[in-house]
Amino acid sequence: MSMKLQEVSDSPQITIQRLSDDLCSKYGVKLDVMRLDKVDAELSGNKWFKLKYNLMHAHACNYKRLLSFGGYYSNHLHALAAAGHRFGFQTIGVIRGAEPQEYGPTLQDLVKYGMCLKFVSRESYRNKTCDTFLSTLKEELGDFFLIPEGGSNVLGVKGCTEIVTGLWSDPSSAPDYIVMGCGTGATLAGVILGTQGRCKALGVSALKGAQYLEQNVLDLMAEFAKYEGIAPAVSRDSWQIYHDYHFGGFAKLTPELVSFMDEFTTGSGLPLEPVYVGKTLYAVHDLIRKAVIPEGARVLLVHTGGLQGVRGMEAQMQKQRNRAV
Ligand SMILES: Cc1ncc(COP(=O)(O)O)c(C=O)c1O
Repeated sequence: MSMKLQEVSDSPQITIQRLSDDLCSKYGVKLDVMRLDKVDAELSGNKWFKLKYNLMHAHACNYKRLLSFGGYYSNHLHALAAAGHRFGFQTIGVIRGAEPQEYGPTLQDLVKYGMCLKFVSRESYRNKTCDTFLSTLKEELGDFFLIPEGGSNVLGVKGCTEIVTGLWSDPSSAPDYIVMGCGTGATLAGVILGTQGRCKALGVSALKGAQYLEQNVLDLMAEFAKYEGIAPAVSRDSWQIYHDYHFGGFAKLTPELVSFMDEFTTGSGLPLEPVYVGKTLYAVHDLIRKAVIPEGARVLLVHTGGLQGVRGMEAQMQKQRNRAV
């Protein structure tokens, strides 16, 4: 296992691609996309970075079994199951909600990768961080290394600091803004720490009413500083989270969002998914239009992956296209 796990400890090849669209041309904005979706076929997107140190730590501590939490379409569980399969860990996915009669593409993959699935009620799922609930799971399933929902812990943040490694090797192409979707805020926390104020980091919440995200990010950064024994010296002015681009809530779609994504993908060839990346790109356009992102700025959109989830959302997307006609 360690030989193969070595692949994860090395830095992946990250491609940055220039996007040209009419709006950016109009405002003189240079928009690039960091294609984390292309980092690995299975451990794709920000998952690669959030899992990297978790997997290495679990291996170093001789854990054979990894457990985490997620929904029916979870990108995080998908990547964890793939990692378990590749590196020889047993994996357990605790899934929010009753077992569906028919498994969608994500759940089917989890099973294919050998993940053991445990469906729990939405009420029980809320206890995902409670010691008593976790002890009960250990009694039932045996000892495991716990990776929190979304891979959101200090090791996940540590991995995400590496997303921006290398961005300043050529200062002439360094961005003024780096933008990404937020679920738990772990990716943003890592990027803020890696960026160290050299550009502004913008998060776009995928959830409705998630005003707690700012505090999550601050807590994760403080935890990371403690873990690394460094001072948490990042100015609060160097980052911002936008809360108005959720389109009705987590994984909710509208005809406007789907038509924006369709048009963008047709024009640029960039594959998008609607839960995080499509909404974030929409936000970037809106912030340019509103001059929050000023004319002439260099913007780097982080494509955080999640494309596997599109398979389970096709019908919902088609419904929005039909509504638009
Ligand atoms: C595709 C994608 N983008 C962005 C995010 C948000 O990441 P975070 O939870 O670190 O904020 C997630 C969730 O992990 C995701 O699956």
